[in-house]
Amino acid sequence: MSLSRAGRFIAAPIGKKVIMAVTGVMLFGFVVMHLIGNLQIYIPADANGHYQIDAYGQALRNLGELLWVARLALLAAVILHIVTAIQLSLQANAARPVAYQKKDNAHSTYASRTMIWSGPIIGLFIVYHLLHFTGGQLHPDFKDLSVHHNVVRGFQDPLASLVYIVAMLMLGTHLYHGVWSMFQSVGVNHPRYTPHLKLFAKAAAAFLVIGNISIPISVMAGLVK
Ligand code: HEM
Repeated sequence: MSLSRAGRFIAAPIGKKVIMAVTGVMLFGFVVMHLIGNLQIYIPADANGHYQIDAYGQALRNLGELLWVARLALLAAVILHIVTAIQLSLQANAARPVAYQKKDNAHSTYASRTMIWSGPIIGLFIVYHLLHFTGGQLHPDFKDLSVHHNVVRGFQDPLASLVYIVAMLMLGTHLYHGVWSMFQSVGVNHPRYTPHLKLFAKAAAAFLVIGNISIPISVMAGLVK
């Protein structure tokens, strides 16, 4: 592809939707892997009092430069996802300079109408989350590499737990619509497959929401201490 063709592709709505899909899949892959990592909070300490999730945190840290490569790739995906989403919504507004007199929601769902604010809320949540569990600046008693301690102590604050629970519900609706619209924009829309794809999007969103929300709830209920 020549540079100008590549440029035209990126400038066109379909090029932007492909960027949304590719970066969305990267972010989706991250949240699935992250949840699998987080669920290790349920593994009790060994005879020496060592937690599996702490060993996992240490193993990630041991990746050294590779961890930074993954972090930078993730950051690039987040930035591209956000910038492209803003460009797409500006393009859509420019194509319809006069707002609809009456909005017809017949073809939209609750999840699709809320993308515009579930996205920014998740963005804000990520900033809070990094200052809470990674940097510790917003944590009441942060200890570097003591992941089990940090998570339990962090979720003993009901306000912090509430922030996570609300953010996970937002993430669920965002992912449900995101996964589903990705299939549509890459052209996978067929009466035979559509119900299965919708079911997949629902199941994936439910897995992520229930799995993640279970953690603050288990801590507050005293099941994980
Ligand atoms: C209840 C849900 C969640 C829990 C308990 C949780 C827990 C954690 C913990 C403990 C860390 C620090 C790990 C370490 O320092 O070794 C972390 C890092 C991180 N989490 Fe989460 N997380 C949750 C949900 C999410 C979600 C939904 C996202 C994204 C939308 C996310 C994105 C991140 C990112 C980007 C990092 C930094 C990774 C790094 O740079 O090393 N987390 N999380």
